[in-house]
Amino acid sequence: MKPYIYITRKLPEEAIAPLRQKYEVKMWEHDDVPVPKEILLAEVKKADALLTMVSDTIDEKVLNEADNLKIVANCAVGYDNIDLPAAAKNGVAICNTPDVLTDTTADLTFALLMAVSRRVVEAAEYTKKGQWKSWSPFLLAGQDIHHKTLGIVGMGKIGEAVAKRAAGFEMNLLYHNRTRKPEIEQKLGTVYCTFEDLIKKADFVVCLAPLTEETKNMFTLEVFQKMKRSAIFINASRGPVVNEQGLYQALVTGEITGAGLDVFEKEPIDADHPLLGLLNVVALPHIGSASVETRTAMMNLAIANIEAVLDGKNPLTLVNKDWTSCTNSK
Ligand code: DGY
Repeated sequence: MKPYIYITRKLPEEAIAPLRQKYEVKMWEHDDVPVPKEILLAEVKKADALLTMVSDTIDEKVLNEADNLKIVANCAVGYDNIDLPAAAKNGVAICNTPDVLTDTTADLTFALLMAVSRRVVEAAEYTKKGQWKSWSPFLLAGQDIHHKTLGIVGMGKIGEAVAKRAAGFEMNLLYHNRTRKPEIEQKLGTVYCTFEDLIKKADFVVCLAPLTEETKNMFTLEVFQKMKRSAIFINASRGPVVNEQGLYQALVTGEITGAGLDVFEKEPIDADHPLLGLLNVVALPHIGSASVETRTAMMNLAIANIEAVLDGKNPLTLVNKDWTSCTNSK
């Protein structure tokens, strides 16, 4: 019997064609709705491999249901949607898609920063709505980006790629990270700071830290109150690192000037969420890595990881490093 692969979202046929030659492959046939939990539970029972999305919760209940599962290939660099201890207990390899999305995500992060500081979305709407009656000196005037101070919280690969872009704008670069990155400090002139220092000094605070127990709820009202009143906050990592009520308060009371958000506590965000009513917020639907080229590369990497594991080889981008094909009891 051919190994069985379940894919939790409709992907282009040409992307999965290589899998179809060797394996039995089934996909959730919808592009715009996640697979319901009961279907996922039924599919994982039969599956040798799952190809999942960031919007799927692969928790203990799902992993315990699996009888043959060897790999979960998550089509994202983040893997906070997967219960790693439960995967370890069940001998399942967890893979992600690092590197291939670094530049694309950094581009979007920088685009958000530019959009908020130069009021691009607000200005575009103003023009399209026919509100532009006359040129005037301070019409939709925003803030400069060049020569300002950028503070990056979470100096991983995407953080470094954002710092590279910022260097082109001759920005001063601060960063905070669990571990110092001397090679990036040397290469890009980034300066390591405590979190407290960074939030006080930066004109732009960009969060790129992964969601962990330590980073959950890291940006509270108290944190925003310590930022400059002119500060702009950008979040392109995960929603739960921010206390959204605190952010809303900070934005309406002028504690900070604006925010650019690609991620939210609950996704998709409700259309009537208070943050969406603010002119000084640019909100995007979690599209950090969403270029056609990069999403294709992410799918290909996820597929390559599945093929490797099902062929008894080491996957290319394993998250749970203690996993080996021989410790897999399934
Ligand atoms: C990731 O890769 O973690 C993104 O958030 C989803 O594209």
